[in-house]
Amino acid sequence: MAKHSLLIPGVALALLFSAVAVVPSSADKGKTIFGANQQETLKAMKGLAQSLGVKCEDCHLKKGGKLNYEADTEHKKMARQMKHVLVDSLVLKGIGEITFREGNHQNKITAKYTALGDAPGIYLTMTKNDQPYQKTLPLPAVGQPLTCMSCHNGQLHFLASEAEHHH
Ligand code: HEC
Ligand code: HEC
Repeated sequence: MAKHSLLIPGVALALLFSAVAVVPSSADKGKTIFGANQQETLKAMKGLAQSLGVKCEDCHLKKGGKLNYEADTEHKKMARQMKHVLVDSLVLKGIGEITFREGNHQNKITAKYTALGDAPGIYLTMTKNDQPYQKTLPLPAVGQPLTCMSCHNGQLHFLASEAEHHH
């Protein structure tokens, strides 16, 4: 009997945690910065994968044959920063900057969005593993929003070539 009652708190705690883990507040299920609900998020995810020319597992970890969408990865973090700094506020602010570490290198991407004057465009510069890169892209067509596709156009490393990228 004494043994039994000692077990109960542990069991109750385990049940509490598993309940929290499996049942997130149902209205918010699948809600992300990319979509208000599961359906919108999934649609946005397909667009994201296509814009970057990558598969779901490039950003989401595969664990035991199943993708774990909730778990964080470096590419997920980068995708969030790209959305906040380059998609959501670049046009408004005219400039966006992202820094990220890779090994011992402090890398930096700067984007300038110039809509007026005689040289409109998206001016990109990057320092990656101490190498400089730059490229100027056309602005999205009139009335079209800036998206991941506007810069990536189906390629993850469209600025530094794949050959120079180390994982
Ligand atoms: C470029 C990276 C990237 C790619 C590619 C990608 N995702 Fe995601 N995904 C994310 C990020 C970042 C989030 C979290 C967004 C947030 O924090 O609000 C996310 C969230 C999700 C979620 C919601 C998880 C949760 O916490 O509820 C699902 C489901 C999902 N992705 C499915 C997919 C599927 C299916 C694909 C392939 C068609 C895919 N993703 C491709 C970056 C990516
Ligand atoms: C204003 C231009 C711009 C936009 C818009 C943009 N990106 Fe990027 N992104 C870049 C540049 C530049 C790089 C570096 C490319 C390279 O390494 O050649 C990059 C790299 C990345 C990387 C890879 C980082 C690494 O080195 O591992 C991911 C992931 C990414 N972007 C996701 C996104 C997603 C998701 C969106 C849309 C929400 C997006 N980007 C929108 C410019 C942009």
